[in-house]
Amino acid sequence: MKICELLKSGYSNISLVRDAAFIDSEVVLAHILGETKEYLLAHGDEEVSSSDELLFNSYIDRIVLGEPVAYITCRKEFYGNDFFVDKRVLVPRPETEMIVEKVIEFLEAVVKYGDGSRKLKLVDVGTGSGNIAISIAKHFRDYLDDPLDEVFAVDISEDALEVCRINIGQHGLEDKIQAFASDLLEFLEEGESCDIIVANLPYIGEVEDRFVEKNVEDFEPNVALFGGNDGLELYKKMFQQIKEKDVKFRLMIGEFGFAQGEKMKELLSKYFEQDEWKIEEDLAGIPRIFIVKKKY
Ligand SMILES: C[S@@+](CC[C@H](N)C(=O)[O-])C[C@H]1O[C@@H](n2cnc3c(N)ncnc32)[C@H](O)[C@@H]1O
Repeated sequence: MKICELLKSGYSNISLVRDAAFIDSEVVLAHILGETKEYLLAHGDEEVSSSDELLFNSYIDRIVLGEPVAYITCRKEFYGNDFFVDKRVLVPRPETEMIVEKVIEFLEAVVKYGDGSRKLKLVDVGTGSGNIAISIAKHFRDYLDDPLDEVFAVDISEDALEVCRINIGQHGLEDKIQAFASDLLEFLEEGESCDIIVANLPYIGEVEDRFVEKNVEDFEPNVALFGGNDGLELYKKMFQQIKEKDVKFRLMIGEFGFAQGEKMKELLSKYFEQDEWKIEEDLAGIPRIFIVKKKY
């Protein structure tokens, strides 16, 4: 079969079950042939070998059954960077890039207006593939005045940490990021400071607000999805740790789920009433992240 015919057949099979069928079909064929999507479009008349055709059809069958394309290609782009992913980690989502943008904005201001006398410590809680920590550290790596000192990428899942370490290595950030196991901020000593805390914790409710697509639940790790009864249990626990250990931080940013804005506001006013906090919406107008700035 020719490239254009295979793309068309992949497209018609996937489109029965999923949007973005043409893109998925292209991504998979480009991956098999080791070519770019642009190459496929420019060489539609080229013949594909029968073994590649068989492989393509088997991948399309997996997509039709609901498997994320990223687990088939083992790659996902996030904030313009390429990440290795497999079923041990959540597939990074585009909406999470908002956390990276906000932290970079904050750190750019530190570079511009700070006196540079003290470099900052950042922790990414529930790091998964390491996409957030790596994107931030990579952005500042080549700055003459990198504002970051140490970056900690923590997760409760050893499986996820293995994937994270692969990505740290692939991005050449071994000297900047340490990945290790911790139940949220358990690793911090009492009174210890951590200038920036970022978190995209599991936030799907197991009882209330159980908004989860079937293929997500079937294929992505449960430890990366569910956040207790109402979905916000892990955030509550992390806020409690901050309070009990009196963790000093300057900025904390976290992502939460659809319809959790009001509950998140209640939590923030309970735990951080002395501080400056706000909730921001994503591009679709859905409340998506909270930002807390500590007042000292
Ligand atoms: C929603 S995923 C986010 C992954 C990645 N940070 C991202 O933005 O794509 C949540 C991550 O939190 C981890 N996690 C779950 N419970 C945790 C806990 N108690 N302490 C630390 N990490 C936890 C999961 O293993 C998973 O990797």
